Amino acid sequence: MAPPSFAAAALLALSLVAPGSAESAITQVSVESTSNAPVFDSETLQVTDASLSTLNKNQSAYFAFAKNDSSLQTRTFSNGCKVFPGDWLWPSNWVWSLFDDFLDGALIKTVPLAASCYKSWPQYNAETCETLTSDWTNSNIHAADPASVMWPLFEGRSCLPTTDSSASCTVGGYSSYAVNVSSVGQIQLAVNFARNAGLRLVVKNTGHDFNGKSTGAGALGIWTHNLKDIDYIPHYRSSGYNGPAVKMGAGVQAHEIYEKANELGFTAVGGEGKTVGVAGGYVLGGGHSPLSSIYGLAADQVLSLDVVLANGRFVTVTEENNPDLFWAIRGGGGGTFGVVTSVTSRVQPKVGVTVSTFSFSTGTDVSADTFWAGVRSYMERFPQNADAGTYAYFWILSTGTDAFTFLMNPFFAVNHTLAQYNALVKPWYNDLEDLGISITPNSTYYDNFYDAWMAGFPLETVASSVMMTGSRLFPRSNWEDTTSFNATFAALKETVVAGHPLLAFNMKAELVNGYPSNAANPAFRNTLLHAITSTSWTDTANNTEIKTNMENFTNNVLGKWRAVSPDAGAYMSESDILEPNFQQAFYGTNYARLYKLKQRYDPTGLFYAPTGVGSENWVVKSEDGLPDQNGRLCRA
Ligand SMILES: Cc1cc2nc3c(=O)[nH]c(=O)nc-3n(C[C@H](O)[C@H](O)[C@H](O)COP(=O)(O)OP(=O)(O)OC[C@H]3O[C@@H](n4cnc5c(N)ncnc54)[C@H](O)[C@@H]3O)c2cc1C
Ligand SMILES: *[C@@H]1O[C@H](CO)[C@@H](O)[C@H](O)[C@H]1NC(C)=O
Ligand SMILES: *[C@@H]1O[C@H](CO)[C@@H](O)[C@H](O)[C@H]1NC(C)=O
Ligand SMILES: *[C@@H]1O[C@H](CO)[C@@H](O)[C@H](O)[C@H]1NC(C)=O
Ligand SMILES: *[C@@H]1O[C@H](CO)[C@@H](O)[C@H](O)[C@H]1NC(C)=O
Ligand SMILES: *[C@@H]1O[C@H](CO)[C@@H](O)[C@H](O)[C@H]1NC(C)=O
Ligand SMILES: *[C@@H]1O[C@H](CO)[C@@H](O)[C@H](O)[C@H]1NC(C)=O
Ligand SMILES: *[C@@H]1O[C@H](CO)[C@@H](O)[C@H](O)[C@H]1NC(C)=O
Ligand SMILES: *[C@@H]1O[C@H](CO)[C@@H](O)[C@H](O)[C@H]1NC(C)=O
Repeated sequence: MAPPSFAAAALLALSLVAPGSAESAITQVSVESTSNAPVFDSETLQVTDASLSTLNKNQSAYFAFAKNDSSLQTRTFSNGCKVFPGDWLWPSNWVWSLFDDFLDGALIKTVPLAASCYKSWPQYNAETCETLTSDWTNSNIHAADPASVMWPLFEGRSCLPTTDSSASCTVGGYSSYAVNVSSVGQIQLAVNFARNAGLRLVVKNTGHDFNGKSTGAGALGIWTHNLKDIDYIPHYRSSGYNGPAVKMGAGVQAHEIYEKANELGFTAVGGEGKTVGVAGGYVLGGGHSPLSSIYGLAADQVLSLDVVLANGRFVTVTEENNPDLFWAIRGGGGGTFGVVTSVTSRVQPKVGVTVSTFSFSTGTDVSADTFWAGVRSYMERFPQNADAGTYAYFWILSTGTDAFTFLMNPFFAVNHTLAQYNALVKPWYNDLEDLGISITPNSTYYDNFYDAWMAGFPLETVASSVMMTGSRLFPRSNWEDTTSFNATFAALKETVVAGHPLLAFNMKAELVNGYPSNAANPAFRNTLLHAITSTSWTDTANNTEIKTNMENFTNNVLGKWRAVSPDAGAYMSESDILEPNFQQAFYGTNYARLYKLKQRYDPTGLFYAPTGVGSENWVVKSEDGLPDQNGRLCRA
């Protein structure tokens, strides 16, 4: 607790949120709406020069906005690192408490989600631990926690559920504190505090990120999960667009926007994953969707974003207002240019979908060669299927020596009646029949996206610590001549034969005519296949073995994919954290411009995310030598 006099002063500052109040740290302001997007209540509570004018010099040193000086020097500390717990510059408990008062009590000191499993934590409780252990792979529990992430491997595995209550559980690579955000002003205070105090800052929404981008040792976390407002705008008007739109708070998840869309009779471009934060890292990294083959990426739909920049200022970013940021933030990656508080996107008309699931495997009547001939017949048809506007999520798994399974999980045929779907797949089905492969497709037509999506995509499990993923966006040119196609097919088959699962999307994601261009990976624009694979190890593998496995995966397994698609790239949000030359792979020709904008808008490197723009200037000195976030963040 803060000394009483200070706490009282700070509380007073916060309790006075009326307009013009001289003592408020966060104050009620009137926000002018851009075009006709509504203003959320959370956006009318801000920090302003006037509200900060009541702070004394010592408080200002921590909470003031950045000076309006583009030549602002990078804040350096003697060791070239961000201030870390235990350092003499680390804010005292008294300062954290003052910060909490300014935030109106929204500061949460991190307790690892699995602390209940450990006797060394006051939260120890065998029953809670048991429930948590059985829920661990459910994404909802991680999304609802201020610091937990869904890929604990990249946090640093510092506190996993266990039955060994005397094992070690530390905060590790989780952020040290998180701000449970409900207003723009709280984000501004957190940004100013982290920048002024030289702290590491992370933005965590759901924690879905594959590469640990939403976690970091010693960091202050900004947790956006509770920014849940959704407003439908039937007549959004701007210079470039006139039509229906939706404005979403940064914490809105896919299932929430789809549900709302269904209720109001529109279709929103979001992901297949049910709990992914649709207005957070998903849209900022590009965002592929079951609707992408028709409407492009989620980032392409964005009309306007509200953002707190590294200098602490709140800005609205549109094609007219901050056009360079409008370009960069849409697809240039989360946690890089600022904290997005809300996103306004165009929405599409209601559409019907045929959803089909089926599988086939090797067996007494189906040899491995026959199986692969059936797969080949499918893959040959990727251009036609994507051009018809469909999206298909399929898995190919090795189940033993010369034994394989193909799962269509599902074929998502947007704007196709059952008859149209059956006509589209007939040539492939005929080939399968000729090969003696029998399938029993379960195909259903839904007259709206929501019901189709609910039926088609199950809740995926997360939080494995014994695997990592990698991916590739294979370009259309690989289908344009038989030699390239054969090489592509051989590379994918080899991966599966070596025991790595293939989880892939046959889709395209072209920029729709007339939509403004953005920073999304150019490799998306000509892809027909977003393919993901993974490697795994036993839970007794030591760190040296894990590292060797990871490097082999990056160089030898994914190396074969890169070899057959040398000019293509990979999707940053479902990728290999060790991707060589990530700048080219995740950003392509956009990288140089993105890097320049990063220097302009974030000159001190406040925002860091592994494989983010400008991340090559930093290094995490991880404790276990693996590419995780459990260590100091230092200048490279
Ligand atoms: C089960 C599963 C299914 C998936 N399905 C899809 C899919 O269908 N399509 C697809 O394209 N991707 C999919 N993804 C990948 C997903 O898009 C990324 O993991 C994405 O980063 C998630 O964003 P988030 O905000 O939910 O997660 P977080 O991990 O919380 O954040 C991810 C990154 O974005 C940053 N960020 C989050 N919110 C903000 C904000 N408001 N302002 C600034 N930065 C922010 C974070 O700092 C971090 O760098 C899936 C992932 C999983 C695990
Ligand atoms: C500011 O901090 C210094 C050093 O801790 C202290 O001496 C001084 O009294 C403080 N001033 C105010 C106004 O709190
Ligand atoms: C600094 O810039 C912000 C907006 O970018 C502006 O609101 C503010 O008035 C400026 N402050 C000074 C002192 O110029
Ligand atoms: C976060 O804040 C919201 C109010 O905005 C509150 O309902 C919720 O309980 C808080 N969560 C935690 C973990 O403190
Ligand atoms: C849906 O399909 C019909 C043909 O069946 C076509 O005319 C229409 O343009 C398609 N709609 C979209 C949005 O692609
Ligand atoms: C077919 O799929 C639907 C979901 O789309 C499911 O509800 C139904 O149980 C499935 N039927 C069979 C026979 O598997
Ligand atoms: C491609 O592979 C098919 C099937 O194995 C084979 O028949 C064909 O000759 C190959 N074509 C080229 C150009 O390699
Ligand atoms: C890790 O395991 C390998 C092989 O099992 C062994 O050779 C090596 O010494 C181990 N390394 C450590 C640090 O324990
Ligand atoms: C590297 O990966 C390939 C493909 O999975 C595998 O065959 C090989 O044994 C691996 N090598 C090492 C050293 O792990």
